Amino acid sequence: MSSTSSRRLNYDNINPHVKAAQYAVRGELAVKSEEYRAKLARGDTDLPFKEVISANIGNPQQLDQKPITFFRQVLSILENPKLLDHEDVLVKHMEYKPDVIERAKWLLKAVGSVGAYSASNGAPAIRQRIAEFLERRDGFPANEADIYLSGGASSGVNTLLHIICAGPETGILIPIPQYPLYTASLSILNATPVPYYLEEHHHWGTDLTSIKKACEDAKAKGTDVRAIVIINPGNPTGASLSEEDVRSVIEFAREERLVIMADEVYQTNVFVGRFHSFKAALRQMQKENPGKYDSVELASLHSISKGMVGECGHRGGYFELVGFDDKVQAEIYKFVSITLCAPVIGQCLVELMCNPPREGEPSFELYNEEYTGIYEGLQKRATALHEAFAQMEGVECDRPQGSMYLFPTITVPPRAVEEARKEGRRPDEFYSMRLLEATGVCVVPGSGFGQKDGTQHFRTTFLAPGTEWVGSMVKFHKEFMDQYR
Ligand SMILES: Cc1ncc(COP(=O)(O)O)c(C=O)c1O
Repeated sequence: MSSTSSRRLNYDNINPHVKAAQYAVRGELAVKSEEYRAKLARGDTDLPFKEVISANIGNPQQLDQKPITFFRQVLSILENPKLLDHEDVLVKHMEYKPDVIERAKWLLKAVGSVGAYSASNGAPAIRQRIAEFLERRDGFPANEADIYLSGGASSGVNTLLHIICAGPETGILIPIPQYPLYTASLSILNATPVPYYLEEHHHWGTDLTSIKKACEDAKAKGTDVRAIVIINPGNPTGASLSEEDVRSVIEFAREERLVIMADEVYQTNVFVGRFHSFKAALRQMQKENPGKYDSVELASLHSISKGMVGECGHRGGYFELVGFDDKVQAEIYKFVSITLCAPVIGQCLVELMCNPPREGEPSFELYNEEYTGIYEGLQKRATALHEAFAQMEGVECDRPQGSMYLFPTITVPPRAVEEARKEGRRPDEFYSMRLLEATGVCVVPGSGFGQKDGTQHFRTTFLAPGTEWVGSMVKFHKEFMDQYR
């Protein structure tokens, strides 16, 4: 082994943009929570809790969400096509329904083998099936050539930002609070995030006045603002945009010539109102005003990680482009080619997500029961957590609207702010660290997503089953306030 001094790489000479990137969802608290988990697994009994609850990340199956049977049955055949030599056993003894076998055969024909690379932008037959899904969802045609399969939405965001960002002068409008993938990626690309604040007192809605101001201010500083990111439904806020809001963002993007990046990974996690896709709104506006919106460039992203699918470990997603220049699209194709293709098993899951069993098909009943059970379970847990927050002193939390998170405001008492300062932490980090140490519940401090100056929040998922951990949060909060009030 070489000595430290002879190593070519050290902390001071590696890419500074990587060092500057921050990703709180898997930051210090998450690392510490994993240490606690390992301690508990070793049988350590000196911690004041018996379990670590990873409420820091939307990772449904880590928190006991069961995979949907139809999806996994099809995948099992894709991974082991020899099972098809014993179809009778699958049907008679393993409860595989005929549509499982049919779908697996169709997918095997579409991809050849899940162990083979596919086309760079994804298997053509799968792209076609996604286009059909989009057509059913939006009521407007979709073209498979404009669809790019990706290893989760994260990889799609990475591709798009690489294409859009040409240097430090490129600015991208980012909602605050936001999922830190965006600021972290811009940091790595050495481009400029242009933050716009969401309106907490209007259910975390998108306020066009604040977007316009952020854009104007950035332009005045010489930033070349090129794109706007919209997370709908929101992470960490859960807010779903109204159709009117979606249309006004499109109008603004047209006026300012901004690419719209619509992150729609939570499109089925909606409890209040309903999901309005940017694609449907744009096509509708184009129909109403022929020619006016033809130059709007939209990239919308979806994923198998969220919703009731929750297959984030399989890494699958796609983005659809509308209105992009052909030569730009060719460069996007080249860019995705450099990493060869998205995981093919993940691509197959995207196909299954987009085309689940339909009413009347053999697997429908069980699929529907599982899907509805997950949806209702999430809603119930979100409501229970919301009710718990309502009892907590100085905590305010908007009603659960969607996605997988609640993002309460906390009031950290001045004495705790002072303690935090001594530890070199922000008040919300101090609160979240004490919460983890006392209860084993790992949340993410609001500062990891961005928050208005002077406000403190944390983000928690409502994925974890049971109520014990919620009770332990309530107890901790009371003790924290009693200690520092
Ligand atoms: C808003 C948002 N976009 C993208 C992603 C990334 O998802 P994926 O697992 O598909 O990469 C997440 C993950 O939490 C998210 O919350």
